[in-house]
Amino acid sequence: MTLDRSVPRDELYRDLVRSLESLLGGEPDALANLANASGLLAGALDRINWCGFYLLRGEELVLGPFQGKPACVRISLGQGVCGTAAARRETILVADVESFPGHIACDPASRSEIVVPILEGSELHGLLDIDAPEKNRFDEKDRAGLERFVQTLVPLVKWAQLRN
Ligand code: SME
Repeated sequence: MTLDRSVPRDELYRDLVRSLESLLGGEPDALANLANASGLLAGALDRINWCGFYLLRGEELVLGPFQGKPACVRISLGQGVCGTAAARRETILVADVESFPGHIACDPASRSEIVVPILEGSELHGLLDIDAPEKNRFDEKDRAGLERFVQTLVPLVKWAQLRN
């Protein structure tokens, strides 16, 4: 499934949500669904070098399905951009990773980043992390589009399969 990257971003995020529903709907395997969700994002978004999921396992975040270079496997709540977004339970947009205290540099090419917590009510399942090789890659349109993507994802994944 390939999306047309040249359409306006509002439209791109609408297409992404529709594609996510048709790709994951009816498939009960949580791991397969997150793997496909990361593949869908990687194909749809330009100017990114990493995208994927961290899952909440006990008191830490553990690397889940992703596209990009091998990444840091375990992140404590409150640590780095991911751990901070998880602890605050809110999206964090980092225009320049060098100015974020404690940023964890998995891929030295990363220059900016967005992290969206995956929440079902007040329950945190994990987060979506996307890195870009240029500063200021993500803006409020991306925040809105990716938050909608994550809200669409929540009921399509059987999160209990991913806990240990
Ligand atoms: N940069 C992240 C770590 C995860 S990697 O970018 C994939 C952070 O500071 O939380």
